[in-house]
Amino acid sequence: LKHFTTIENISNEEILTLLDRAHEFKAGASWEPRKKQIFTSNLFFENSTRTHNSFIIAERKLGLEVLEFDAVGSSLSKGETLYDTILTLDALGVDVCVIRHSQDQYYDELIQSPNLHLAIVNGGDGSGQHPSQCLLDLMTIQEEFGTFEGLKILIVGDIDHSRVARSNAQMLTRLGAKVYFSGPEEWYSEEEFSEFGPHMQIDNLLGEMDVVMLLRVQHERHTEDEGFIKENYHQTFGLTLERAKRMKSGAIIMHPAPVNRDVELADQLVEGSQSRIVKQMQNGVYARMAILEAVL
Ligand code: CP
Repeated sequence: LKHFTTIENISNEEILTLLDRAHEFKAGASWEPRKKQIFTSNLFFENSTRTHNSFIIAERKLGLEVLEFDAVGSSLSKGETLYDTILTLDALGVDVCVIRHSQDQYYDELIQSPNLHLAIVNGGDGSGQHPSQCLLDLMTIQEEFGTFEGLKILIVGDIDHSRVARSNAQMLTRLGAKVYFSGPEEWYSEEEFSEFGPHMQIDNLLGEMDVVMLLRVQHERHTEDEGFIKENYHQTFGLTLERAKRMKSGAIIMHPAPVNRDVELADQLVEGSQSRIVKQMQNGVYARMAILEAVL
C-alpha cells in the first residue's frame, strides 16, 4: 500500500492481509528492524483520544521517530495551507503523515500531487471515511466469530454523519456480512446506504443480530440540533438495558467511542459482558501497527 486513505481503494485481499498482521502484532510479533530512521508526523485537526494516542503507541512500538504536530503552534495559524504544510514535512524528511481533518477527502489533493513522496494515513476525514477504525472493528469481530460471512450486523444511530458507518458498511458487506441500519430515519440517506442494507426499527432486529454497533450522535456535524433530547433518543433508538436482554446469545455490543453513556447505550452496558468496546480500543494499537508497516 502506498497510502491508507479510504477502504474504497483497498481490496478484500489487502484488508485480510492487514488483519492477519494485526493479529500477529497482538500475539507479540515485532517489526523487522530498519537501519535508517523513519519519521512519522501526526496531524490532528479534529479532536481525538483513541485514534491519536493509539497511532503514537503503534509508531513507538514499531520503533519509529514520532513528531507531534501542533496545528495552533504551526504556520497554519499564519495561513499556510494543508498542502504546503505536508510539502514542508515531506521536504524535511517525514516518511508518513497520519492526518485527521474535518474536510471530506482532504487527502485527494495530497495523494495526487507528483511532488509529495510521503505516505498519507487517514485518521478520519469529516463525514467521509475512518479506515483505521474499520480495521480495528473488523479485527474485533474476527476475534469473536472467526469470519464475516453470514454475520448479521446492526449499525445504529447517526448513519449519515458517521465516517465509521460509511467505512464499516462498505467493507463488512464486501466481506460477506449482512448489514442493517437503525436510528432516526432522517439520519439515514436511502440513496447512499440502501445498497448496503435496510433501515428498520431496532426492536424488529435485535433478536437476530450477531453484532450491535452503536454510533455517537455527531452533534458537531449537525446544522440543526435544537430538538435533541437525550432521554428520548435513548428510549426510542438506544440500546437500553431491557433491549440488551433481548439480544441473541453470543451477540456482542460495539461502539467506536467516545460513548455518550445513557444515550447510545445504557451506562451499565458499556463495560458489561456483552460489550467489546474496551477490546476495540486495545485492538486499535495493533491494527494501526499493521497499517503503518504496510505503507512503509
Ligand atoms: N473512535 C475514535 O475515532 O475515537 P477518537 O475520536 O477519540 O479518536
